[in-house]
Amino acid sequence: MNIGVIGLGYVGLTFSVVAGLKGINVIALEKSELIKENLKKCKAHFFEPGLDDLLKVLMNQHLFVKDAYSKEDKIDIFFITVGTPLLNGSSTPNYAYLESALDSIKSVYDGSQLLILRSTIAVGTTRKLVIPYLAKIAGIPETDVLVAFCPERTIEGKAVKELQELPQIIGANNKKALLLAESLFREITNTVVKVDSLEAAELIKLFNNTYRDIHFAVGNVFNEIAQGYNINGVELIQTANLGYERSNIALPGFVGGPCLEKDAYILTENMQDSPGKQFVLNSRKYNESLEEQVIKWVQSHLKSTDKICITGLPFKGRPDTSDLRGSNSIQIVNKLNQLGFHPNLHDFVAYKDEVLATVNGNWFDDLYDAIIDCQALLILNNHQKYSNLELHKITSAMKNENIYILDYWSAMNQIPVKLYPNLTYITAGNILI
Ligand SMILES: NC(=O)c1ccc[n+]([C@@H]2O[C@H](COP(=O)([O-])OP(=O)(O)OC[C@H]3O[C@@H](n4cnc5c(N)ncnc54)[C@H](O)[C@@H]3O)[C@@H](O)[C@H]2O)c1
Repeated sequence: MNIGVIGLGYVGLTFSVVAGLKGINVIALEKSELIKENLKKCKAHFFEPGLDDLLKVLMNQHLFVKDAYSKEDKIDIFFITVGTPLLNGSSTPNYAYLESALDSIKSVYDGSQLLILRSTIAVGTTRKLVIPYLAKIAGIPETDVLVAFCPERTIEGKAVKELQELPQIIGANNKKALLLAESLFREITNTVVKVDSLEAAELIKLFNNTYRDIHFAVGNVFNEIAQGYNINGVELIQTANLGYERSNIALPGFVGGPCLEKDAYILTENMQDSPGKQFVLNSRKYNESLEEQVIKWVQSHLKSTDKICITGLPFKGRPDTSDLRGSNSIQIVNKLNQLGFHPNLHDFVAYKDEVLATVNGNWFDDLYDAIIDCQALLILNNHQKYSNLELHKITSAMKNENIYILDYWSAMNQIPVKLYPNLTYITAGNILI
């Protein structure tokens, strides 16, 4: 089987590697020169465990990267994995990449091949945009086109593993397309779930992500409510959940990343204004508002001339990812830059060049070097390594006066704050008290 993957980003590259592992040939198109240069050296442009090792085995054996398709490329299934970011300031995805991906198959698409759309889109987009486009370029009736929508539901940092384990949802425009999509995914994972329509599959993707967004928003709001009573919100949520299986309140933390930052908007895009729509959007907006808590805390405790260190820059710490897209930490550094701060920057996973292309600061590879003489340390994601930091080493490297650690996610675990009288330790649980 030959698959034509279009777009070798986080989704396309991990899928291509897993397909290659199963013996499927992938002939992929990618526009970014940086990504192609990396792939020539069998390297991914982002951190995903095991990916580089797999690329060493698969590049030019099962995975071939091209600039454009030619008549010699015999492709059975096209697989579109281009980005669908929101258009600036709106809740509508930018479909320009999707349209350019469809354009790129013109020379080899004859209407007989299946096209699988993987990118996240508003409900109805496969039927309204993709099917007419394909029918037109192949010169066939829309009912004869073979199209499936099969959402990506893996988590960054575990994508290679999860692609082979998660149930794969398939919605298609006709029986033949459904069976063809199923035949591909049966090679990749054990559980394939066929749903009744393209729209059902599109909705499942948006439900899965928006559910997470709302679930985290509940924890974040409860955390604020607790602090209104002078109670540490993190500790209260932990106690509320303890041994009580009907309560799974999320611990507070930022909610971002390239998917959650947009999917609630995409889900509600076609909805009439209603309490339901506002419920979904308010949850999203509440999660977005957390950045401001940190900014206000910094403004009330520090001056822009103070030396500070910020670590934890990708949008989450667990599982490991280098992805800075939709990261609240990056937004916070940006806003602090605008307020005149020039922080020391560190991260355990993110790449220096990518960070410094986005925000201003002094980069350090080692956290203990980055905090020397700092007044405050801001830990902005929950990477596992923060739980092993040596508090004594940190406090003695920092400024020898009143010092602050703002560990928003409580990533350092229980720390014996009382042993350090010059240290103020803040988490999301007491940032508002
Ligand atoms: N990142 C995730 O974990 C994740 C999870 C679920 C869903 N999604 C969705 O999957 C889609 C892709 O996400 P991503 O994170 O991989 O995006 P990405 O931006 O990392 O990757 C898209 C890639 O497509 C390339 N591209 C764009 N137009 C092209 C064209 N015409 N021809 C060839 N290459 C082209 C870009 O250069 C880029 O490398 C998005 O809709 C996203 O919402 C992502």
